[in-house]
Order: sequence, then C-alpha cells, then structure tokens
Amino acid sequence: NQKVIAIDGPSASGKGTVAARVASALGWAYLDSGALYRLTALYARQQGVAWDDEAALAQLAAALPVAFTDGAVLLDGQAVDEAIRGEDIGMGASAVAALPQVRSALLQRQRDFLTAQGLVADGRDMASVVFPQAALKVFLTASAEVRAQRRARQLGLALDGAAFAQILADIEKRDAADRSRTVAPLAPQADAHILDTSALDIDASVKKVLDWYRQ
Ligand code: CDP
Repeated sequence: NQKVIAIDGPSASGKGTVAARVASALGWAYLDSGALYRLTALYARQQGVAWDDEAALAQLAAALPVAFTDGAVLLDGQAVDEAIRGEDIGMGASAVAALPQVRSALLQRQRDFLTAQGLVADGRDMASVVFPQAALKVFLTASAEVRAQRRARQLGLALDGAAFAQILADIEKRDAADRSRTVAPLAPQADAHILDTSALDIDASVKKVLDWYRQ
C-alpha cells in the first residue's frame, strides 16, 4: 500500500478542488496531474511543436521546465496558471495525453510528488497506472449537465444560452475522447469507490473521501 489517495474522474467533476482540500486536511502533498498534460500542450504551442508529433512532444514532456511554487505554476520562469486553464489548452492536453510516449515521459515526474507525508493525486489514471497501490481510490463524477454548470459558474457565465451550450458540448466532446482512447482510457477501477457529486457540495464530497480513508 502506498500512502496515496487517488482521485480520478471526468472533466469539471470537481476532483481538483476536492483533492486539494483532502490534501490540506491531511497535511499531504497534492498532485494535479492534468496540469502536466496542459503544460505539455502549452509548451508545445510555444515551441511550435504540433499536438500530434509524438516523438517531439515526448521530448518536451520529459524536459518540461516547470516549477510548482506556492500558488503559481511557472513554465520557463513565467506564471502560466491562467494560460493553461483555457478550453483550447484543455483540448490540447487531451490530444497529447492520448500519446503513449507522452504518458510515459510524464510517469516518473508524477511519482516524484509522493513524499513521506502522503499524496493526494487527481487525474484520469492515478489509480490504474501511476499509483496502482494507492491506499484509497476514488472515482469522482457528476452528470455532464452539473459539470457544465460548475464550469460556467467558475467562468462567471449564465447557466443557459449559447455559452452554456458550448461548455456542455466541450465537456461531452472531451469525455468522449478521454473514454475512447486506447491508452489510459477514463474508467473507474474495480477497486475504486464511486463518488457521484451531482447532488453533493464540496464539503460533503471532501468529508466522504476522508471517511473512506479513515475507515
Ligand atoms: O479537469 P479537466 O478535465 O478540465 O482538466 P484536467 O484534469 O486538467 O485534464 C486535462 C486533460 O488531460 C484531460 O482531458 C485528459 O485527457 C488529460 N489527462 C490525462 O490523460 N491523464 C491525467 N492523469 C490527467 C489529465
């Protein structure tokens, strides 16, 4: 058993917020693995490397000049927190994440986040590939509609109209891509606890994960 809580799930399920809160409640480190795929997509764009050039992307991923400081993510010394959050970079992350050489280039970097205190890791394949011996595996999900509402609120958008419809369409498109790919497809592991947060707020979700861990 590794001192790891793996939290996997689809886009905008709230797993990042829940994972970060669980980590701070336990005093553990936190890994936002999606950020590494987003950083790879952004770095590729900056370096003029196409999102389907597997060999070149794997080299960039292996050499990502990234630093996670308190609060800011630095790429080549520049704060990129906002730059990596856009849906275009999300799609780029999804594209580069479908390439096996990119995934293996990022594997050890993800495992290096585990410290003696413990680690809460969020992503798509934390339980299946990166930390298969995790002490607790959670698959955190919510309906596409609820996830689109959460994303819209984050962006300060109305929960109806064209912008909302676009967000919902983007979420469904990225889910379909993440589920249907051959490497690390998005799916719950047999030994994962399923947490459907469609009707649960963040506090309740955090509590549920901590209860499972302490059981
Ligand atoms: O939360 P959201 O889905 O918006 O973004 P994310 O977790 O930052 O992930 C962005 C993309 O990276 C996903 O659509 C996945 O294709 C990919 N990803 C992955 O393949 N494996 C991970 N462990 C994390 C993210």
